[in-house]
Amino acid sequence: MQDLKKVVVIGASGFGREALDTLEAMQAAGAEFEVEGVVDDAPSDINLERLEQRGIRYLGKREDWVREAGSAEYFVLGIGAPTIRRKIASELEALGKVPFQAIHPTAVIGTNTEIAQSAVVCARAVISTNASLGDYVHVNPNATLGHDARIEPFSSINPAAIISGEVLVEEEVLIGAGATVLQQLTVGKKTVVGAGAVVTKDVPAEQVVVGVPGRWESSGSSTTESF
Ligand SMILES: CC(C)(COP(=O)(O)OP(=O)(O)OC[C@H]1O[C@@H](n2cnc3c(N)ncnc32)[C@H](O)[C@@H]1OP(=O)(O)O)[C@@H](O)C(=O)NCCC(=O)NCCS
Repeated sequence: MQDLKKVVVIGASGFGREALDTLEAMQAAGAEFEVEGVVDDAPSDINLERLEQRGIRYLGKREDWVREAGSAEYFVLGIGAPTIRRKIASELEALGKVPFQAIHPTAVIGTNTEIAQSAVVCARAVISTNASLGDYVHVNPNATLGHDARIEPFSSINPAAIISGEVLVEEEVLIGAGATVLQQLTVGKKTVVGAGAVVTKDVPAEQVVVGVPGRWESSGSSTTESF
């Protein structure tokens, strides 16, 4: 019999443990792989306690994991912040580690979608037909991606956000919880869309968007008024 793939989760904080939930749900639904434990360079005491409570081993810092002969080859990157995620992903890939796709069995995946091998899709997310998720994209619980939406590498779609049809979310974007992006718009690279905002126009790169309708510094009505 072939050896089971061994997977570690990188990150003991909130999203890391949600990624663990996703992996455990996949196992409960019949997927065959082993979760070896969690790697984190600086876990808090409370997060170590939380891992212990659920019977998950803490495997040490990344350098410990990478050094240890015979340790898992596969990883799920459970770190919420897009820029840090990019840095750690490139370090791990350079060391020959392989990303493992985590898709919760309750997620609804439409026809002809493209989901990168390194993406994480949490419980009850909806990825509609012909949508695509780039490398290391995170889609949090209850988020919805409309038809033909494209989410570029290292972006995060937070819980219950709605990305409408044909939207382009460029790299390293964070779409806040419950935010909505209307159809056919583009959200530029490294922009943060605040929780609950409604994006009604294309947003340039590296902006912070808040409110309904969404505003940002260079959009004419300064966000600093509402901040
Ligand atoms: C918009 C956001 C990026 C701003 O973060 P920040 O720069 O650290 O801002 P602060 O928390 O210092 O807040 C600054 C001001 O903006 C307001 N503000 C913060 N977030 C806001 C939002 N989403 N919508 C409207 N106003 C917001 C604050 O009330 C504060 O107003 P005040 O100056 O009148 O007191 C952030 O609040 C946000 O919404 N991030 C997404 C969070 C998310 O999705 N969380 C779920 C994780 S699972």
